[in-house]
Amino acid sequence: MPIATPAYALLDVGDARRLERFGEIVVDRPAPTAEGHVAVDPAAWLTADARFDRSDRGPVAHEGWTTRDGQPIEPWVLDEAGGRFELRLAPSGQVGVFPEQAALNKWIGRQASRLAKPAVRAGTAAKDVGREGGSFSGSAAVLNLFGYTGAATIAVARAGTPVTHLDASRPAVAWARQNAALNDLAEAPIRWISDDAAGFVERELRRGRHYAGIVLDPPSYGHSGSGRAWRLGADLPALLAACAELLADGPAFIALSAHTPGFGPERLGELLLEALEPVVGAGAIAAIEVDDQTLISEGGTRLHLGAMARWTR
Ligand SMILES: C[S@@+](CC[C@H](N)C(=O)[O-])C[C@H]1O[C@@H](n2cnc3c(N)ncnc32)[C@H](O)[C@@H]1O
Repeated sequence: MPIATPAYALLDVGDARRLERFGEIVVDRPAPTAEGHVAVDPAAWLTADARFDRSDRGPVAHEGWTTRDGQPIEPWVLDEAGGRFELRLAPSGQVGVFPEQAALNKWIGRQASRLAKPAVRAGTAAKDVGREGGSFSGSAAVLNLFGYTGAATIAVARAGTPVTHLDASRPAVAWARQNAALNDLAEAPIRWISDDAAGFVERELRRGRHYAGIVLDPPSYGHSGSGRAWRLGADLPALLAACAELLADGPAFIALSAHTPGFGPERLGELLLEALEPVVGAGAIAAIEVDDQTLISEGGTRLHLGAMARWTR
């Protein structure tokens, strides 16, 4: 029985860079946390189809991207456990998925299944959620903030749980919507919103809305369409406190992840506890789990990429 080649692989790490295979495309990108690592397989780096440089070194075919044959690389589809995703060589150096988040997205999917109310049968179309006794807020609904291309949203929707996908970037929301369609979830109970995360949460609190599940994967820096700046260090504590207030009664969860230096698992865990304790009580600490988000290369090098903290009731 031939062993299926995993769709994603971290092929090698070295010289502050990472070499990854996403389906049929091999990309070579910067990885600050790979500083000090020595490449295990120098020949593998010659197989890169595209390379991203932050500086303007070399002939640029795709804003920061250089391709092996100088031709643009069209978007391609990655088929992996978490679903099907359209990948692109984005100007930011991102490609559209964070492989290090696969385990957390699986956990989010399990939590969403736990919330899924029989009332909202799997496959119920978005427009029918209300008529089916369901809702995009309340004790069986999830809010995904900084939702990017939708990996967590797809994990929730696959469980048949209504989910609100929010991102400040309209192109990111469109990309996520496309990914939902790629996973036959175009009719699933997903509400698509392009807005500022903090502003939206503040308004939901004023409207008296609640959510049973909240997912946050904020960038270090960002801004919304209305120009409101986002600085993780300064803004995350207040947003987490507001999210804790937004929690519905009964079964609930929060999943927080970040790729920001200085915000490792312990720090994210502390921030989550500080936000939850006033709302759910001192017992919150027992239900908080934290961990690094790392990937291991084919050569056995461990690459630290981010961190997560999660809580469940
Ligand atoms: C790329 S994702 C994942 C971030 C990941 N943790 C990192 O550090 O790379 C971050 C998403 O946040 C969105 N974003 C940035 N500022 C925002 C804001 N103020 N409100 C909502 N979404 C925002 C961006 O459009 C982007 O899609």
